[in-house]
Amino acid sequence: MRLPAFRDTLEAMNRPLRAAVVGLGSMGANHARVLSELPGVELVAVADSDPERVARATANRAFPGFTDTSTLLAEARPDMVSVVVPTGLHEAVAVQAITAGANVLVEKPIAADLAAASRIAAAAESCGKVLMVGHIERFNSAVRELKARLDAGQGGRVLQIRARRVGPFPHRIRDVGVIHDLAPHDIDIMRFLLGDEVERVYAEAQSHIATGNEDLFAGMLHFRSGVLGLLDINWLTPTKERTLTVLCEKGMFVADYAIQSLAFYENYAAAAKEGAIASVTEGPMTRYPVNYREPLRVELEAFRDAIQQGLPAPVGARDGIAALAVAEALVQSARLAAPVAAGEGVVPG
Ligand SMILES: NC(=O)c1ccc[n+]([C@@H]2O[C@H](COP(=O)([O-])OP(=O)(O)OC[C@H]3O[C@@H](n4cnc5c(N)ncnc54)[C@H](O)[C@@H]3O)[C@@H](O)[C@H]2O)c1
Repeated sequence: MRLPAFRDTLEAMNRPLRAAVVGLGSMGANHARVLSELPGVELVAVADSDPERVARATANRAFPGFTDTSTLLAEARPDMVSVVVPTGLHEAVAVQAITAGANVLVEKPIAADLAAASRIAAAAESCGKVLMVGHIERFNSAVRELKARLDAGQGGRVLQIRARRVGPFPHRIRDVGVIHDLAPHDIDIMRFLLGDEVERVYAEAQSHIATGNEDLFAGMLHFRSGVLGLLDINWLTPTKERTLTVLCEKGMFVADYAIQSLAFYENYAAAAKEGAIASVTEGPMTRYPVNYREPLRVELEAFRDAIQQGLPAPVGARDGIAALAVAEALVQSARLAAPVAAGEGVVPG
C-alpha cells in the first residue's frame, strides 16, 4: 500500500522541477535565462501581458509563452514560479500561482503594502507552499563573506552600517518610489548582518523627476541593539554605486555589492595599550578574496533546494514583511518630517 507513494516521492525527487516566469521585463528576462540553465530545473513556460516580450522570450525556444497567468498555470502546471511583474501586481500574480499549486519566488519588495504582503504569506501558509522573497543581496558572495567575518567577531561590536545605493533614473518604474524599490535590499542586509530588528526610523525624501513618487532619499535606522543604520539611496546619480560600510570597534569593513569585493581597515588603537586608553587610529587594510557568483543564480538554486528538500525558504515572508514595514515607516517619516517607530506609527514626544 505504501509503495506507490514511496515511488511517487522518488519520482518527484528525480524529475526536474517545472519552472515558469511571469513578467519578462528587465529582471524577469534574467530569471528566465538563469532558470533555463539551472540543473534540476526545467523552464516550461513564461508569461507577460506584452505579446512582443513573450515572442522575444520564446523565439527559438522549446517552451511556450502566454499573455495571461491563468492560462500559463492551467496549461504548464509549474512547480515553481518567479513573480517578476511590477510591484503593485505581486499580490495578484503570487496568490494566483500559489493557489494553483506552485511554490513562488516573488521579487522584492514582497508587495506594494503590508496588507497585500500578509495576504501572499497567508496563501502560501494555507496551501503549504514555499514562498521566497527576492532579496538578492543575501546571495551576494561579498555579503556572505562579511557575515561570516562579523559572526566570528573580527570587528568586535558593530557601531554603524551605511549603505549607498545610487544610480540613474529607471523610467519603467512608475508604481512605487525609490524607498520601496531600492531600500528593502539594504534594510534586509542590515537585519541579516546584525540579527536585529529596527526600532525607529527617520527619513528625508524628495521628488525631482515628476512621477509623484520620491526619487531622492536619506534615511536613518535605529536598531534595538542601538546600532545606527544609514541609507543614502536615490535615482538621480549619473553613476551607479552599491556599497556597504560596516563600522566596528576594531575596524571598518567596506563591501561593494556590484563587484563583490570586501576589505577591512583595521583600527590600530582599538585595544587599550599599556598606560593608554583605547582609541581610533588608521591601521593596515586587508582585501579578502571573494569568489564572484551571479547572485540571482545562487538565489534560484536556494529556491530550488528548498522545494526539493521540503524546507522553508532561506529568505521568506517574515523577512519580506519586515523589510517592507521599515520601508513604509521611512515613507511615513519623510511625509511627517518626524521619527516613526517601525511598524507602530509616530514616536511619541
Ligand atoms: N532583485 C532585484 O535586484 C530586482 C531588480 C530589478 C527589479 N526587481 C523587481 O522585479 C519586479 C519587476 O521589475 P522590472 O524592473 O523587471 O520591471 P519591468 O517593467 O522591466 O518588467 C515588468 C514586466 O511585467 C509585465 N507585466 C505587467 N503586468 C503584467 C501582468 N498582469 N501579467 C504578466 N506580465 C505583466 C510587463 O509587461 C513587463 O514586461 C519589480 O517588483 C522590481 O522591484 C528586482
